[in-house]
Amino acid sequence: MTRETWTTRVGFILAAVGSAVGLGNIWQFPFKTAEFGGATFLVVYLLAALCIGLPAILAEFVVGRRANLNVVGAFRGLGHPRWRFVGVVGLFTGFWILSYYSVVGGWVLRYVAGSATGAYFADPAAYFGAISAGLDALALHAVFMVLVAGIVALGVEDGIEKATRLMVPSIVVILLALALWAVTIPGAGAGYTYYLSPNFGELASDIDEIVPFAVGQAFFSLSLGMGAMITYSSYLDGDDSLAADGATIVLFNTFVGVLAGFVVFPLLFAQGIAPDESGPGAVFVSLATAFSELPAGRVLGVAFFLVVLIAALSSAISLLEVVVSYVIDNYDVGRAPTAAGLGAAIFLLGVPSALDVAWLGWFDALTYNLYLPLSVLLVLVFVGWVLGADAVDEVRKGTGGAETPAVAWLWTVRVVVLLAVFGTLALGLQTLFLEGGIVPPIDFDPDVLIRYES
Ligand code: PFF
Repeated sequence: MTRETWTTRVGFILAAVGSAVGLGNIWQFPFKTAEFGGATFLVVYLLAALCIGLPAILAEFVVGRRANLNVVGAFRGLGHPRWRFVGVVGLFTGFWILSYYSVVGGWVLRYVAGSATGAYFADPAAYFGAISAGLDALALHAVFMVLVAGIVALGVEDGIEKATRLMVPSIVVILLALALWAVTIPGAGAGYTYYLSPNFGELASDIDEIVPFAVGQAFFSLSLGMGAMITYSSYLDGDDSLAADGATIVLFNTFVGVLAGFVVFPLLFAQGIAPDESGPGAVFVSLATAFSELPAGRVLGVAFFLVVLIAALSSAISLLEVVVSYVIDNYDVGRAPTAAGLGAAIFLLGVPSALDVAWLGWFDALTYNLYLPLSVLLVLVFVGWVLGADAVDEVRKGTGGAETPAVAWLWTVRVVVLLAVFGTLALGLQTLFLEGGIVPPIDFDPDVLIRYES
C-alpha cells in the first residue's frame, strides 16, 4: 500500500500548527507571560522560540521528510537502525501524553455543553471539582478519544488534513472575534496593562526561572519530542524549504498564544477576578466565573471553550497519528481498526488520570520533567552528530542550495540547542526528585485536588 502524503504544503503547515496550538497556548502561555514580566517576557520567549525551538523543529522535520517513515522506522530508513530506540522513546512519550491530555479534552467538552446550559454558573469551583475526576470525567475522556480516533481513522488527507484546514482558521477567527469583543467591555484596560506592561525588574530577578520556562514551553508548545512533527513531516514529499515552514509554524503558534491573552485578561479584569495562577484552575474556574457573571456569558462561554476544544482536538490527533503511523507502516492492518484499537489502549492508560487528578498531575510531571526533554535531547544528538551532513543536505533543499545557513543551523543544533535541552532536562530531573514527583500517587492526597480547584 502506498504511503499517504499531504495534498498541499499549506495543508501540512496547518496540520502542524494544529498540533502546536493546544492547551499550552491557552492556559499556560498568557498567564506565564503576565507573571514573568509581560512584554519583556515576550521578547525572551520569541528569542527562545526562534533560536532554540525553530532549529529543533527543523531537526524533527529533517528526520521525517528524509525518511518518509514513521517515528521508529525513520531511524532505520536513514541508515542508522541502532538509533531506532530514539523513535521508541518518542512513540512512548506521545502515547503517555495523549492518555491524560484526552482527560482534559473531556473536561473541555463538558464545559462547551456547560456554557450552553449554564450548568456551572451557580458555583464554578464546585462544578470543576465535580466533573474533573470520577465517572463523569471517565465518560468524557472516552468521548474525546472517540472523536480523535474518528478523525485519524479517516486518514492523512481525508481526516487530518481536512479537519485541520477547518479547525485552525476557526481557532483564529473565534479568538480574534473574542479579543475584539473584549476591547469593548468596561474595565478591560486593566487587563492589558497587567498582561503586557514591560517589567525589567521581574526579568532580572527571576531570569533563572524565566529562561528555562521559555525553553521548555517552546518545546512543549511546538509538540517536539513526542514524534508528532517527525510523523507529520514524513508525509511530505516535496522539496520546499523546511526552514520557511518551521518559521511559519513557530510564529503562528506564538501569535495564537499572545492572542489568547488578549481574550483572557480583559475578561478577568473586567469582572474583578484576580488571575493569579495558570493551569486548569485559571481556565476552568476563573474564566468560568467571568462567563457566569457576564450578560452574554453563555454565548461567550461556548465560543471560548469551543476554541479550547478545537485546539485540544487538533493537537491530540497528531499524537494518535504518531502511533497509528507506526503500526500501519509495520503491520498489515488497516488504518481504521488501528486507530480504534490504539485509541482504546490510550483510553485505558488514561483511566487513573480520569479518576483522580493526582494521577493526572503525576503523568504530566513525568512528561514535562523527564520524557519530553529526554526525547528532544536524543533526537537532537542524532540529527546533529549522527546524521550531520545528510541533515544539512535536507535543509538546503528549497533554499536555493545555500550552504552557509544550513551549516550554521547544524552547529546551532550541535551546541546551543543541545546545551539548552540538556539544561532543561537537568532542571526537570531536579524538580522531579526534589519534589518527590517520581513516585506515583498511590495514596490519594486530597490536597492535590485543592491545587487544581482553586
Ligand atoms: N503543542 C501542544 C500544546 O501546546 O498543547 C502539545 C501537545 C500536547 C500536543 C498534547 C498534543 C497533545 F496531545
